[in-house]
Amino acid sequence: VSTQINKNPAIIMPSLLSAPFARLGDSLNELERAGVSLFHYDVMDGHFVPNLAGSPGIIKKIQPHIQAQLDVHLMVDDPPRVIPWFDLDSVRSISIQVEASQDLERDLCTIRSLNKKAGVVINPLTCLESLEPFFEQVDYILVMTVHPGEGGQKLIKKALYGIKYCAKRRDELGCNFLIQVDGGVNQDTICSVHDAGADEIVAGSAIFDNDNPAEAFNNLNHLIGNQ
Ligand code: DX5
Ligand code: ZN
Repeated sequence: VSTQINKNPAIIMPSLLSAPFARLGDSLNELERAGVSLFHYDVMDGHFVPNLAGSPGIIKKIQPHIQAQLDVHLMVDDPPRVIPWFDLDSVRSISIQVEASQDLERDLCTIRSLNKKAGVVINPLTCLESLEPFFEQVDYILVMTVHPGEGGQKLIKKALYGIKYCAKRRDELGCNFLIQVDGGVNQDTICSVHDAGADEIVAGSAIFDNDNPAEAFNNLNHLIGNQ
């Protein structure tokens, strides 16, 4: 078995889905002091996934209190309706699910027209070939390593292949999109995700379901060779 070791540095994005809402501002500021520059923000419409999360109203409330930017992950059936709601200063990037959109190309253009980075998300059971038309159009591909809908699930090992596949297609095509990975990342799995080729790694419960989230963030960074 050959192991591909990724020498490129990756950044870790805490997912606000697991954040303590009772003391959100303080908690995010603590993580910013530990070096977080980007938070992941999940949006769920109760249809594409059987759960609700992530109104733009929360971002409006929180953005005056943070320096970091937000990466918005839309798990919604109707991206064209929802995308404009996230035209907010602190939003760096918006991703849409390859399974959801009727017209991905149009929706990626809409995201770009808001001056946000545009990404496409793929679920663990979705055929990887469905990404083919988009490799040259996206700023990033988000490879889901759990079935989307909730935090705290176990990483699906087979989904690591999706990361390697995207890295291989990127080389072959000579494009420069980033590879983002989301779901089940913790201290036991982060190295396999990084080695497979991840550039941006989401971690929710592994950071926030911890007595000291900043320390958990530092430990994850240490494991992938940062600092
Ligand atoms: C799951 C979400 C994830 C979630 C990850 O559908 O897309 O962003 O917050 O949580 P963990 O890291 O706990 O698996
Ligand atoms: Zn997510």
